Amino acid sequence: MIYLFLFVAAILGGYILLTQTLFKRSKCKGNAPMAGKTVLITGGNTGIGKATATHLARRGARVILACRNRVKAEAAIMDIEQETGSSELVYMQLDLASLTSIRCFVQAFLKAEPRLDVLINNAGLVGDGWTEDGFGILFGVNHLGHFLLTCLLLQRLKEGKGGRVVTLSSMAYCWGRIDFEALEANGHLGTGRYSWQFFQAYCNSKLCNVLFTHELAKRLKGTNVTCYSVHPGIVRTELSRHVSLWQKVFIEPIARLLFLDPDAGAQTTLHCGLQEGVEPWSGSHFSCCAVQEVSAKARDDYASRKLWELSEKLCGLA
Ligand SMILES: NC(=O)c1ccc[n+]([C@@H]2O[C@H](COP(=O)([O-])OP(=O)(O)OC[C@H]3O[C@@H](n4cnc5c(N)ncnc54)[C@H](OP(=O)(O)O)[C@@H]3O)[C@@H](O)[C@H]2O)c1
Ligand SMILES: *[C@@H]1O[C@H](CO)[C@@H](O)[C@H](O)[C@H]1NC(C)=O
Repeated sequence: MIYLFLFVAAILGGYILLTQTLFKRSKCKGNAPMAGKTVLITGGNTGIGKATATHLARRGARVILACRNRVKAEAAIMDIEQETGSSELVYMQLDLASLTSIRCFVQAFLKAEPRLDVLINNAGLVGDGWTEDGFGILFGVNHLGHFLLTCLLLQRLKEGKGGRVVTLSSMAYCWGRIDFEALEANGHLGTGRYSWQFFQAYCNSKLCNVLFTHELAKRLKGTNVTCYSVHPGIVRTELSRHVSLWQKVFIEPIARLLFLDPDAGAQTTLHCGLQEGVEPWSGSHFSCCAVQEVSAKARDDYASRKLWELSEKLCGLA
C-alpha cells in the first residue's frame, strides 16, 4: 500500500515539476493596438504560425501568410476568418527552400503592401533533403531563407515607426554547433536520413537563428527596428511529421500529456511582436514571454558576424 502511495506521489510530483519547467505555460499580456498594422508571417498555415496569425487577426492586424502551399494556406485563412471575423488575411506564395521564390515574393510583397510592422520568421522543419539551390534543407530553410527574406525587407521595416523581426528558434540551439569551414564548402550543417542526424542539423540551424538575431540587433542600432529570437515551448504541431513511426509512437503519449497546444505555443512570439517596452532587449532570446539568458556560443560576436557574412555570400547579397 505504502509503495503504491509513493509511486503515485512520484508520478504526480514528476508531472508537476515538468509542467513548471520544460513544459511551462505563459501568456502574452501585451495589448498594443494592432489595427492598421501589417504582420508578415512565414509558414502560417499550421502549428504555431497559424495560432499566432489567429491572435493577430483577432487584434485587428492585417496578416500576410507567406506559405509554400496555396491549398493549405487558403484553408487556414478560411478557418481564421471564421474564428476571428477578420477580413484582413492574405495569402502570398513563398517557398523558403528557393532563393528565387524568396526574391519573387519580396518583389510582389513590396508592390502590394505599403507597410510592414512585424516580420515573423516562423516557418521551419525537421527533416532531410536539399533546397533548390543545393543547401542542406535545415540550414537552407530554417536559417538562410529567412536571412535573405529579412535582409530584403529591412528597408520597408525601417520606414515604419517601430518595426520588429521575430525569429522562431528553439531551446534546441544549445545542442547546436557551427562548423564554418564545412558550411562554406558543402552548404549544409549536417544531413542524413536518420532522425539523430537531422536532429543535430536542426539544432545547428536553431543556433543560427539565435546568432542571426544577435547580429541583426547590432546592425539595427540607430534605427527604430528591433529583433528577438524565440523558444516557443515544446508544442504539439506537425513539426515531427518526418520522424520515424516508432518515434511517433513513443512521442505521442508524452505529447498528449505534456506538450503545449499551438495557442500556448504562440504566446512568446506574440510577446516579442507586440508587447510594449521590450525594445531595450533587442537581440535577446525569449522563452515563456521573458528574456532568457543564452549560453556563450549563442552570443559570440565573432561567430555571429561570420555567419552573417557567409550567409550574405551564400545567398548572393555580397
Ligand atoms: N513545435 C515545437 O515544439 C517547437 C519547439 C521549438 C521551436 N519550434 C519552431 O517553431 C516554428 C514553427 O514550427 P511548428 O512547430 O509550428 O511546426 P509545423 O506545424 O510543422 O509548421 C511549420 C510551418 O513551416 C512551413 N514550412 C516548412 N518548410 C517551408 C518552406 N520551404 N517554405 C515555406 N514554409 C515552409 C510549413 O508549411 P507546410 O505545411 O506547407 O509544410 C508550416 O506552415 C519552427 O521554426 C520550429 O523550429 C517548434
Ligand atoms: C525613431 O522614432 C522616433 C520617435 O518616433 C523618431 O523621433 C526618430 O526620428 C526615429 N528614428 C529613425 C532613425 O527613424
